[in-house]
Amino acid sequence: MTQPSSTEIEDKHEIEDITSNSLIQELMCNLPGHKNGFIKVKPYDFVFLTDTKSYLKRIREFEVRDDDIWICSFPKCGTTWTQEMIWCLMNNLDFKTANKVDLDERMAFFEETAITDLKYCDFMDDSIEQAANMPSPRIIKTHLPFQMLPDQIRTRDKNPKIIHVYRNSRDVCVSLYHHWKILEGFGGSFDLWAKLFLEGLGGYYCPFWKHVESYYLSRYDNIMFLTYEDMKRDLKGIILDASCFLGCDKYSENEIAQLEQHLSFKNFQNTPTLNKQHHVDNCYKVGFSNQTEGAAFVRKGIVGDWKNYLSHEMSEKFREEDRILCTVTGLVIEDE
Ligand code: A3P
Repeated sequence: MTQPSSTEIEDKHEIEDITSNSLIQELMCNLPGHKNGFIKVKPYDFVFLTDTKSYLKRIREFEVRDDDIWICSFPKCGTTWTQEMIWCLMNNLDFKTANKVDLDERMAFFEETAITDLKYCDFMDDSIEQAANMPSPRIIKTHLPFQMLPDQIRTRDKNPKIIHVYRNSRDVCVSLYHHWKILEGFGGSFDLWAKLFLEGLGGYYCPFWKHVESYYLSRYDNIMFLTYEDMKRDLKGIILDASCFLGCDKYSENEIAQLEQHLSFKNFQNTPTLNKQHHVDNCYKVGFSNQTEGAAFVRKGIVGDWKNYLSHEMSEKFREEDRILCTVTGLVIEDE
């Protein structure tokens, strides 16, 4: 069978080169890096870098362990917050180490190398190898959609715990806009960003709605679903649920209160091992950034910041996508 010319089969994944798409061209005009362009992984249409192609086979064939814990999310859903909660619960609330060793060193960001422009970051260790070499029980963060997780998870050959965190689409879009400004040097307007996001082209891992769906419809049973909005409303309740899920519900009231305090937004802002400020400062230094000085990864931490950014018309378009997501997943969306 003849494939369309823009499509190729790469290690079992069908790949479409979308670099010439007019919106992607607009995105690329506003970025200092990622000059090799963008692809879609079919049939789900998830956007990745052209450079990601050479990692897909290794990702698929990665050896999973039954005692792994995978923290999975679309970017900006509260992943770092969730990571720290899980790491502390799994490590006897060792706040001393948490305050001394960077979170990024305490756990692996599985596909980080595959989504990084190594021209600007040639000192990076291979993240897949880093994950492979971690001692058990490993805690691994990934932003990959369910369909692109290692084969052994998707086929249930291995049965690690998965913790998925979701956040409402409009706040994700705003938070991701700032992320791309600060860490990818995006120089375009918010309106352009929102348009890209709605079209499923707002950087790698898009489209957001299909990504969320990929986990909610996965039928994977060793999975805990969290939402950013629930964590904001009842962090203690979420900590207790997560400790049961992880099989470590051994902490006293007082210890849980200490963990709540450790996970507070203020503590995240002020703690160098959690706030990724060195990463932000580095992007600023190498000029790979479009930020005003003082920009932060731990930025606002609220529900409903989208009201400061989205027009009524744009907002309605998000609502329409949300409605479809709720219908197919049963999710109840709170974003005010
Ligand atoms: P904002 O940009 O809306 O402030 P991720 O870790 O998935 O990239 O998510 C980042 C978002 O989580 C950012 O959202 C960040 O401020 C927020 N965040 C990080 N730590 C938090 C905390 N302790 N409490 C509440 N929000 C937090």
